[in-house]
This record gives sequence, structure tokens and C-alpha cells, in this order.
Amino acid sequence: MLLPNAKEEASFDKIDYKRHEFNLDDNYKNKYKGKKFFLKTYGCQMNEHDSENIVGLLKEMGFEEVEDYTKADFLLLNTCSIRENAHNKAFGMLGRFKHLKESKPNIIIGLCGCMAQEESVCDELIKNYKFVNLVFGTHNIDKLPILLDKAFTNNKQNIEVLSRESDLVEKLPVVRVNKYKAYVNIIYGCNKFCTYCIVPYTRGREHSRKKEDILEEVKSLVKDGYKEVTILGQNVNAYGKDLYDDYFMGELLEDIAKTKIPRIRFMTSHPWDFTDKMIEVIGKYPNIMPSVHLPVQSGSSRILRLMGRRYTRESYLELFHKIKDTVPGVAISTDIIVGFPGESEEDFLETMSLVEECKYDNAFTFIFSTREGTPACKLKDDTPLEEKEERLQRLNEVVNTYFLENNKKLEGTTLKVMVEGVSGKKKMYYGYSETNKLINFESKKKLNAGDIVDVTITSAKTWSLDGECK
Ligand code: SAH
Ligand code: SF4
Ligand code: F3S
Repeated sequence: MLLPNAKEEASFDKIDYKRHEFNLDDNYKNKYKGKKFFLKTYGCQMNEHDSENIVGLLKEMGFEEVEDYTKADFLLLNTCSIRENAHNKAFGMLGRFKHLKESKPNIIIGLCGCMAQEESVCDELIKNYKFVNLVFGTHNIDKLPILLDKAFTNNKQNIEVLSRESDLVEKLPVVRVNKYKAYVNIIYGCNKFCTYCIVPYTRGREHSRKKEDILEEVKSLVKDGYKEVTILGQNVNAYGKDLYDDYFMGELLEDIAKTKIPRIRFMTSHPWDFTDKMIEVIGKYPNIMPSVHLPVQSGSSRILRLMGRRYTRESYLELFHKIKDTVPGVAISTDIIVGFPGESEEDFLETMSLVEECKYDNAFTFIFSTREGTPACKLKDDTPLEEKEERLQRLNEVVNTYFLENNKKLEGTTLKVMVEGVSGKKKMYYGYSETNKLINFESKKKLNAGDIVDVTITSAKTWSLDGECK
């Protein structure tokens, strides 16, 4: 048993990351032919992409995926710790798995992802969830075949979670969910330690993949007919800082643009590391989508300082306007937390006025959730939950108004839309514009997923737009 250690997870000791290519031991190849797995993923794109690697590994071992967990021999939850409700969902699902294990004792139940990295979660699993046979973390996904084989052999509780990784593993097998849109990791971990956030503890310190490995992956996606890559990292703007002296996110974006992949997106950008070079490159290359996710969290400089965000309201707004002024037609989206400990009505009104100024194209809004082990845990929080809920509602009303207002401006214009598929009762096509807006549309021609077509917008709604393709 190897348990995570919270102190070690928070440590800033420099690690000399070793790099190696994954190779599945012949002993495990197709060993589980005929066995079925069920995988449920919670959380962010990073977790979704990890699950694509997990599916890749399991398929090489011979497993076949099922959508009904009651039919599976191996049931795995890839979990998220970001807010308390993510926790509750995973534990709720484990409750259902427990019933199944009572009638089918030979099935193997697993939990991985960010929750596995939490010391308190592992303690809870040891104490009250003995039926969970396999627990591994975000740093040793490549060890899944060995660990799973062990679990199938002993049917006991096997916990192997590393506090910090020392290896960056390339060439993990991958089964991508989508045939024309792909995720590509460029940097793992986070060094920012925003005071409310658990990610630096669950994902380790910032460590970048080598530019050659990233570019090789994008080029092979282009060769395979992929039309869009989303470059992933908890903070993509920190790319390269741990590895190079003169090659950072701006340079990488430019090199990815030169691969000629039709669409490039990136997530997430912390306002702190957003350089002029990045803005210039985003504005210059038409295949870098004019869509920037720029989480602000709060409009009050006092709260931003307590959050440890490293920028003020003023410096955020300066960056926001620089991006708006330099990148034609750019859509900017954000994340906002209300009810951070000590947030007063005045602080909240500063968030409201910032939102009025920025008129975001999209916003993800959350009520602060206490995460064990983070510094914000210790801050005095005397705002009642009802008041926080009321703030969230007021905020949502305002952000929604601007979604609609921005969308209305697009009526009558023609946008480039990448087709995703057909949906709804009316069997309309749907897809995303360059600015990442959801478009439902009719088309006389038959279209395929991945096609990029011109759609004229006929009417705007808060969350989507309707249009026609001639
Ligand atoms: N790396 C990204 C954020 C990833 S987490 C960034 O810094 O921009 C996604 C969002 O979840 C955050 O932007 C924040 O708004 C929200 N979040 C993170 N921790 C939270 C917490 N403890 N309570 C409520 N929301 C939280
Ligand atoms: Fe969390 Fe802040 Fe890192 Fe984002 S930058 S993952 S909010 S610590
Ligand atoms: Fe959740 Fe971990 Fe992502 S905490 S948001 S799955 S990095």
C-alpha cells in the first residue's frame, strides 16, 4: 500500500523529471480478453483526456467497454476534487457499486483521479469502503495494468498513490472519444497555489512536455484527419518555464499553428502568465481560435489578494482589453467564485461591476467550496450559505444578459462552424463557431462530423444560436 502525503504534495522541492516511453509488457497484452470494463469520468478536460489513456491501456489488455456498469467485470471512477459536490457524486456512485459487489463478489471496483490523491479520501476508503479494490492516482496511470492485474489476483484493497511523480511518460496508448477533435497535454501540474484550490495538491508541480513530443503528436493528428486540437494544462501559459530559456507558450502556439491543423484551442490561461507574444500570435494565425478562457474569480482586488491570484482588478482589466483590442472578434469567457471567505457585499458588487464592464461571452460561476488542506480553509467565513446562493443568482442573471446580448449581435452574420452531429427533435445539425458558440442549424447539403461550413445566423438565444447553411 502506498498512500498520498499532503505535506509532500504541497512541497516545492525541485524534481528532475525523467522521461520515458510507455510500453505494455507482453504478459498483459490481451490477458483480459472477454472481460468488460465500465469507466465514469468526473471533472475537467484533463481528467477526460486521462480517461482516454485509461481506455487505451484497458483495450490493450483485452478489455471491452460497456455503458451499463452492472455488466462490467471492472468498474472504475476517474474522480474530481474541485468542489464538494464532485466528491459527493463519486461517493454516491461507490454506494451503488457496493450493492453490485455483494451479488457479484469477483468484480473489481476502482477509484482514480484527483480524489485518490487526497490523504483524507484514502483514509475514508480504508475505513469505510473496503470493497474498493484498486486505488491509483494522477501520477501513476501508466501502472494501471500491473495494479489491476494484482487486484484481479488478490481481490483485496490495493492502494498505490504517489504524492509526487518523478517520471513524465510519453506514448501512453490512447482511445480518443472524438475522431476529429483531440486533446493534447502540454503541461502537467500547477504551481500557483490559489488559496481555495486543491489542484496543486492533486496534480503536482508544473512540468512541461518537450516541444518535439507535442509537435509530433499534433502532426500525427493532422495526418489522421483531425480538425481541432485543444491544448491542455491547468495553466497553459506557464508552458516551457521549467524546461527552456527561450521557448514558451507563445512560441509553442506559433509552432502548433504552423502544423496547419484547422483549429487550435487552449485551456486554461491564468491571467498572470499571459504574455504579449501570446496575444500577438493568437491575433496573427487564423487557425488559433479567437476564444480565450480567462478566469477572473473575483472583481475585488482585496479578495483577489486573499485568493492568492497574483493580479488586481486593474491589471486583469488591462489584460482583458489588450486581448479584446488585439484579437479581432475574440470571445472571452471566465470563471467566478462567489462567497469566498470574508467576501463582503461591497466586494461582491465589485465583481458585478467587473462583469458589467467585461460583458463575457460565457462564464462558469461557483459558490466557494472549502477544500481540506488548502489555506482558505483556515479563513473566517461568516457569510451564510443563503446569502452566497443569493449572490450567485444575482451574478448569473447579469452574466446571462450579456450572453444573450453578445449573441444577438451575431444575427445576420455568417460564422464558420465545425459540425459535431445531429440532435434534437427537429434533427438539426449542431456544431461550434470559432468563438466556441453552440450553433444549431439546417443544411440542404448532407454534412459530416468534422466538416467546417459557413452558417448564417437567424436567431440568438442565451446559450446557443440558430442558423442555416446554404
Ligand atoms: N487552472 C484553472 C482553474 C481550474 S479549476 C485556472 O486557474 O484558471 C476551474 C475553476 O473551478 C476555477 O477557475 C475556479 O473558478 C473553480 N474552483 C476551484 N476551486 C474552487 C473551490 N474551492 N470552490 C469553488 N470553486 C472553485
Ligand atoms: Fe487552481 Fe489556481 Fe492552479 Fe488554477 S491556477 S489550478 S485555480 S491553483
Ligand atoms: Fe477536478 Fe482534478 Fe480537474 S480536481 S477539475 S479533475 S484537475
